[in-house]
Amino acid sequence: MAFENIRIESEGGVVTLTIDRPKALNALNTATLREVERALAELPADTRALIVTGGGDKAFVAGADIAEMVAMSGTQAREFGALGHRVFATLESLACPTIAAMNGFALGGGLELALACDLVYASEKAKMGLPEVGLGVIPGFGGTQRLTRVVGKMRAKELVFTGERLDAAKAKEIGLVLDVVPADQLMAHCKAVAGKLLKNGPLAIAQAKRAIEYGADADLRAGNVLEQQTFAALFGSEDQREGMKAFLEKRAATFTGR
Ligand code: CAA
Repeated sequence: MAFENIRIESEGGVVTLTIDRPKALNALNTATLREVERALAELPADTRALIVTGGGDKAFVAGADIAEMVAMSGTQAREFGALGHRVFATLESLACPTIAAMNGFALGGGLELALACDLVYASEKAKMGLPEVGLGVIPGFGGTQRLTRVVGKMRAKELVFTGERLDAAKAKEIGLVLDVVPADQLMAHCKAVAGKLLKNGPLAIAQAKRAIEYGADADLRAGNVLEQQTFAALFGSEDQREGMKAFLEKRAATFTGR
């Protein structure tokens, strides 16, 4: 079934998911979140990297849909929050690397979407923040948790309490985005990063992602045990044999992801 609020394009193992609801600056309503959920479930098996971006030239995603939320009951808000959390957790746990191409406003649920990606690159025009307290609520799709883990507790409190919008340069300074590039070069930049990943073993990248993700929330000893097990588990895979043989034979490796 076709999508109404998102677009999916696939080229050479790199899938681009565009949130495309221009009339609401790509705000995430229930229908859009469900479409993202379906798209993630239906990603082609050979997907090696996923780029997430926003349609149009103004917004990445301007947040959760305020018009849909305004009259929600507590029960409805719980369901809406659970849906957002489920979709972003699915995104975060994809085996392939995910890249947010932040092309404009990334506010509330929009910044939370970017925070659920592995790597975030911003255009010079990007503006981001968690303005929810100004609407009488708090971030509801993981912002209080994921932002804190990226920028630290005190900076996260400052951003959430003030609801202040950061420009891309300031966001880079505090480690919220990796690089800032001119707007017309953002997609090319993200595709170039994806291209670098394509050269490497997909199984190894997936396991490295897992070790970093789970290890980041564990104590050092548990994280190091996870790394040792993951390292050993890759031996015997076709990718491990091929990667090491290719090095010894002084040729480029051809990985199959097996
Ligand atoms: N939800 C619903 N509609 C939205 C929206 C949102 N989050 N953001 C923008 N829109 C709509 C506007 O209502 C407007 O619609 P109409 O043309 O029908 O009036 C249209 O998109 C264009 O927006 P503006 O006219 O406001 O555009 P602007 O250039 O003047 O301002 C903006 C752009 C600064 C991004 C401004 O739209 C804005 O502040 N948006 C809301 C940002 C926000 O508060 N996000 C957090 C939402 S709460 C949340 O996300 C909770 C959570 O964690 C789960």
